Amino acid sequence: MPTHDTPPPRLTTSSGASVAENQNSLTVGARGPILMQDWQLIEKLAHQNRERIPERVVHAKGWGAHGMLRITGDISHLTCADVLQPGAETPMIARFSTVAGELGAADHERDVRGFALKFYTDEGNWDLVGNNSPVFFVRDPLKFPDFIHTQKRHPRTNLRSATAMWDFWSLSPESLHQVTILFSDRGLPVSPMHMNGYGSHAYSLWNDKGGRVWVKFHFKTRQGHRHYTNAEAEEVVGRTREGYQEALFGAIEAGEFPQWTVQVQIMTQDQADACPFNPFDLTKVWPHADFPPIEIGILELNRNPENYFAEIEQLAFSPSNVVRGIGHSPDRMLQGRIFSYADAHRYRLGTHYESLPVNRPHCPVHHYHKDGAMRFFDNMPNPDAYYEPNSFGGPMEDRSFTEPPLDLYGPAARFDHRDGNDDFSQPRALFLLFDDEQKDRLFANIAAAMCGVPAWISERQIELFRQVHPDFGAGVSVALDALDPQF
Ligand code: NDP
Ligand code: HEM
Repeated sequence: MPTHDTPPPRLTTSSGASVAENQNSLTVGARGPILMQDWQLIEKLAHQNRERIPERVVHAKGWGAHGMLRITGDISHLTCADVLQPGAETPMIARFSTVAGELGAADHERDVRGFALKFYTDEGNWDLVGNNSPVFFVRDPLKFPDFIHTQKRHPRTNLRSATAMWDFWSLSPESLHQVTILFSDRGLPVSPMHMNGYGSHAYSLWNDKGGRVWVKFHFKTRQGHRHYTNAEAEEVVGRTREGYQEALFGAIEAGEFPQWTVQVQIMTQDQADACPFNPFDLTKVWPHADFPPIEIGILELNRNPENYFAEIEQLAFSPSNVVRGIGHSPDRMLQGRIFSYADAHRYRLGTHYESLPVNRPHCPVHHYHKDGAMRFFDNMPNPDAYYEPNSFGGPMEDRSFTEPPLDLYGPAARFDHRDGNDDFSQPRALFLLFDDEQKDRLFANIAAAMCGVPAWISERQIELFRQVHPDFGAGVSVALDALDPQF
């Protein structure tokens, strides 16, 4: 790295011509206007106008680092994925994020945190685009844009709207589980290092004998869970809005590499058939007692990006990125996401976003996609093989990568996902895990977030909390009454 006493390189334009003068524009006389032919000035101003790209429609504010996944367990009987074989070491990159805040939002806001991982496996990129929560607010992707509208700004006031949030949640009992986690201690982690990550959806693992099991991925923090109360977070945000970036970047610069224990829960098809709830419903966890977590490895982050924009802002994760041995599941939220992410990337980053260095697989890539904006990568080895099938040695499919078939059955219709669905037992199990102090903070956090919400909406929500547990409803009710009347 150059230092202050090494001679600097010569400044050039973007086309490589040496720049003789970078202090004064080309003007007519010492007091006169600028000449249109000052292309150096025009190039600079034009580039500045193009420095911003659209921020992510959700999860805009984020922090990330490079690392390694090491597999220490043995699930080779369940999957042929090379990334999950015993002893495998796979380079990866992680991006953590808040969901609702814009690019400049304060880091220490109560929100779900994104926990997105890209593994550069020898057989293509595998992306696990999860959260710090094992569940989600909705179970049908048709409801995702509506839900996100309640988290973003009101069209008229341009303010966040507590009324919209609680209106939607109180009309959507499937959100109770995620709402309980969000307003519990874990809704405001001290840093990305002090929270768990969850793949959240059911995915599948398949082996080369045609076997398939369902799987959930968990990443348990080895730094310990640490959280702020609302009051502590307010104090932190008063000092810095960039607390997560400072903590993650600082820890890795100091050689304190954060680690997570990687676990899987496994469910067979027979167990799925016998499961009393839909195991592919994203508002549900698989209870540990029935599906015990199996430790399979360690995830470590150990290298900061050299260029935040190139490596973190231009990162493009998608649940559609799976590799041989790992598959999807009937989780309908997952199906919505399989479409949505690559579509978002083409809009946000451009047609060839997967060829950007941070998104480029670390294995050979051969496809027949052609041309388009910013087409900057090489031709395939033989330029005559630009269609398929061809007789010129172009890349060909390999049936040995075929995923085992999945039986699907039933009439196509718009089934009511709330029909007969128990939205209360699992949040109840969580509520009963909390000690009295945790419960009090849960009630107070919810009450604080309900400030200004019309009573008929907060009462409808409290009725839902009551169905989770009478103490839950009563606790929120008391906490709301105790709020300063000026709110
Ligand atoms: P267990 O008692 O076996 O597991 C409890 C789980 O809850 C642990 O994974 C623990 O995480 C986690 N947990 C503890 N405190 C909190 C909190 N304040 N917010 C969120 N998670 C917390 O019970 P079950 O598996 O039967 O699950 C009971 C409830 O625990 C579920 O309804 C769900 O809300 C929650 N949970 C369950 C998970 C699962 O995969 N089964 C995963 C995460 C939460 P840790 O191990 O990091 O301490
Ligand atoms: C980001 C859509 C549900 C985790 C995004 C983005 C879109 C999106 C469009 C921005 C992508 C980009 O510009 O790069 C959806 C849809 C969902 C859904 C349509 C439901 C149908 C979920 C769920 C999770 C999740 C359930 C977690 C379990 C994330 C994360 C990011 C993200 C972590 C940020 C990725 C990054 O760091 O670049 N989502 N999402 N999303 N989403 Fe979702």
